[in-house]
Amino acid sequence: MALRTTQTWLCWLAVLLFSGEEALSQKCQSDLLRNLTANLQKAVDCGLEPPADWEDKSTALLLMNMRNLTETLHKHQLAACQGAEPSQCHEAEVPRNGGLACATVAQKRYCKPLCNNGYDFSFLRRSRLFDECSEQTGFRWNSQYVGGNTLAVCNEAHISVAGASTAYFPKGQDCLKTKSNSLMRESILETFATDLKNQGVVGELQHRCLVCG
Ligand SMILES: *[C@@H]1O[C@H](CO)[C@@H](O)[C@H](O)[C@H]1NC(C)=O
Ligand SMILES: *[C@@H]1O[C@H](CO)[C@@H](O)[C@H](O)[C@H]1NC(C)=O
Repeated sequence: MALRTTQTWLCWLAVLLFSGEEALSQKCQSDLLRNLTANLQKAVDCGLEPPADWEDKSTALLLMNMRNLTETLHKHQLAACQGAEPSQCHEAEVPRNGGLACATVAQKRYCKPLCNNGYDFSFLRRSRLFDECSEQTGFRWNSQYVGGNTLAVCNEAHISVAGASTAYFPKGQDCLKTKSNSLMRESILETFATDLKNQGVVGELQHRCLVCG
């Protein structure tokens, strides 16, 4: 037990001192993340509330560190769509309160914006399931938003009517919930593949990804 505790501390120290530098510390980092994930799940599942003698200061420290980690993990999550072909295309912005499903077919990049349940697109796009960036579009996104890489904006809404029915995460779901479940993630990407096929985009789908805003 004492040995295990010592090992854990050594691992934490290694993480603090050499983060990212050595193979060992990488393994430490993934162990740490796995433990953190398991402990967080436990805390959430049991409806953890700070006990009466828990210091306010400790809550602030925990919140501060969770904010830091949330930002780091969010960036890591966004990287799932990076580096796709054609490389001349800028990466499309991922809508807040929604997500982007993307794939490359025959050197053309396609991204489909989706809004979380309870949100709706700010522009009507019922017949516009996805946007394209390719040589034909001058390696720009053929977006409704001029000039930039924004494909869609998701605003809070009681009813979702501006987009096609498949452009929303299912009731009770949002992008992260969907992404955390392999089957649901796959189902969203399969629907996107069907959307592409229905619009005459055929061929092998490469660099498929789902990212959450
Ligand atoms: C993770 O948890 C395991 C099992 O409880 C423990 O042996 C290990 O030392 C922990 N690792 C870290 C980095 O906290
Ligand atoms: C998180 O903390 C680390 C280490 O203190 C710091 O380098 C990093 O910039 C912080 N990240 C964010 C997103 O605040």
